[in-house]
Amino acid sequence: MIREATRADREALVRIARASFDRVYAFFAVRGLRRADPLLVAEGEGAVLGFLEGFVFSGAPPIGYIYFVAVDPVRRGGGTGRALVADALDRFRAAGGTRVFAAVPKDNDASRRLFESLGFRDVPRSALRRWYGWRGIAVQMRMVLAPHEALLARTFTDPSPAPAQETPIPSS
Ligand SMILES: CC(C)(COP(=O)(O)OP(=O)(O)OC[C@H]1O[C@@H](n2cnc3c(N)ncnc32)[C@H](O)[C@@H]1OP(=O)(O)O)[C@@H](O)C(=O)NCCC(=O)NCCS
Repeated sequence: MIREATRADREALVRIARASFDRVYAFFAVRGLRRADPLLVAEGEGAVLGFLEGFVFSGAPPIGYIYFVAVDPVRRGGGTGRALVADALDRFRAAGGTRVFAAVPKDNDASRRLFESLGFRDVPRSALRRWYGWRGIAVQMRMVLAPHEALLARTFTDPSPAPAQETPIPSS
């Protein structure tokens, strides 16, 4: 089950962040817990399995960003990471976003494949400027991309199901 985090989750999220990232990334992941929105938690059998920190940069259209996703090392490989990212995509889309970004270390195969399996593709950093102009540059600065990270984007091009239309009665 994916749900929004509460204060009571904090201890578990800090533990998972520290078990999932090196010191520098863990520092930023723990700091991000206070500001992320959405901050999602995957829960199973009463235990916290993993979390996702997202941001929505406001504007028209809003720009979604997945900042961190992490799953408890002993719970990996069971679909939790995918469920967290898929839920975040639904939320970004519902907020009116047309694209969602993520930055992953180029050598992090598990993470790259997770995002690719949900339709994310590598894009050059210049894409933010090309797609969003000055706003894209400002958003890119707030993403704080490191040189060893790849920028990934998921574009929502598939249309939502059209409302059922009445079939016209043929005139005779
Ligand atoms: C990346 C991470 C969140 C994946 O979580 P997970 O719950 O194990 O992932 P899932 O079970 O949902 O797997 C979804 C897909 O991701 C890919 N994947 C997951 N683990 C993988 C691995 N070890 N090697 C290669 N691909 C992997 C696969 O494509 C998988 O789909 P499949 O099972 O149909 O092949 C987890 O490995 C993790 O917490 N890593 C440390 C933190 C991190 O690096 N986060 C990403 C950067 S912010």
